[in-house]
Amino acid sequence: MIMQMNPHSTETRSPRAKIAVRDLWMTFKSPDKTKPDVHVLEDINLEILDGEFVCIVGPSGCGKSTLLNIAGGFFQATSGAVRIEDKVVTAPDSRHIFIFQENGVFPWLNVEDNVGFGVKRSTMAERKKVVEHYVEMVGLTGFGKTYPRELSGGMRQRVEIARALAAEPDVLFMDEPFGALDYLTRLRLRAEVTQIWQRERKTVMFVTHDVDEAVQLADRVVVMGKRPSRIRDIVAVEVPRPRDLDDPECRRLRDHIFGVMGLDHSGRATEIRGVGAAEEEDETEGKVVNLADRR
Ligand SMILES: Nc1ncnc2c1ncn2[C@@H]1O[C@H](COP(=O)(O)OP(=O)(O)O)[C@@H](O)[C@H]1O
Ligand SMILES: [Mg+2]
Repeated sequence: MIMQMNPHSTETRSPRAKIAVRDLWMTFKSPDKTKPDVHVLEDINLEILDGEFVCIVGPSGCGKSTLLNIAGGFFQATSGAVRIEDKVVTAPDSRHIFIFQENGVFPWLNVEDNVGFGVKRSTMAERKKVVEHYVEMVGLTGFGKTYPRELSGGMRQRVEIARALAAEPDVLFMDEPFGALDYLTRLRLRAEVTQIWQRERKTVMFVTHDVDEAVQLADRVVVMGKRPSRIRDIVAVEVPRPRDLDDPECRRLRDHIFGVMGLDHSGRATEIRGVGAAEEEDETEGKVVNLADRR
């Protein structure tokens, strides 16, 4: 169904929103009647602008991946809807590309063929040019004929990013794409993704449980709470890129986000908007990346 922009419409969507999440609720029904249903998302409303980089943070298990999978057309919401450019998302779309934590690349294809997999070009020469461009962009020039098993985790993730970008997506959904990498590689890839995004200006919905990562990357950070999860805050990061996490404004925003999630820097639960601290602790403990990780 395509909704027309109608000046008399009661639709509250702002004209520049690329992705609009409206009144979204999600419950996973238990197939076994003796087990309770899992209430995951409650009343999620969010608009993402064209070319905006939005990070979604929240404790492990709060429903971040669920939200991304609904937006990507893989799961159907219990109620409410996601629209991308006014079209209700009902199924996956080849213009909306997912980047996962790992195993996104095809092990039986070399780097070039992985990157070229989704490239729609009429001639081989054009296709080759696109592949070369993105292989270079992610710093893998010279590795075109190399197979994924011969690459480090960080390099494989670069292949994955190049593969996604070469398909010329409209929207990129990234679900903890650096989660399996070591800290230094993660830092490097964040810097690279920032540069690439500045050049390409794709609309990005990026899920992470790493608050630092979110502050470093995002135009806005959507902070979710423990399941059943609501949006607790949406924080604009108006710090020029590339961002230094020691920048006082970055520190302030990070502290604020930890506060909203009910955590201090050590990952310990703190008082939070009327929610019992102990209640928060079990799921968040050790799963939200904190300052200790940076040392
Ligand atoms: N397909 C599914 N069926 C049933 N429960 C699910 C399914 N996918 C996720 N869940 C449950 O929904 C909750 C949120 O999961 P998820 O969205 O993966 O959290 P996050 O990405 O924030 O860690 C978890 O309790 C998880 O067990
Ligand atoms: Mg997840």
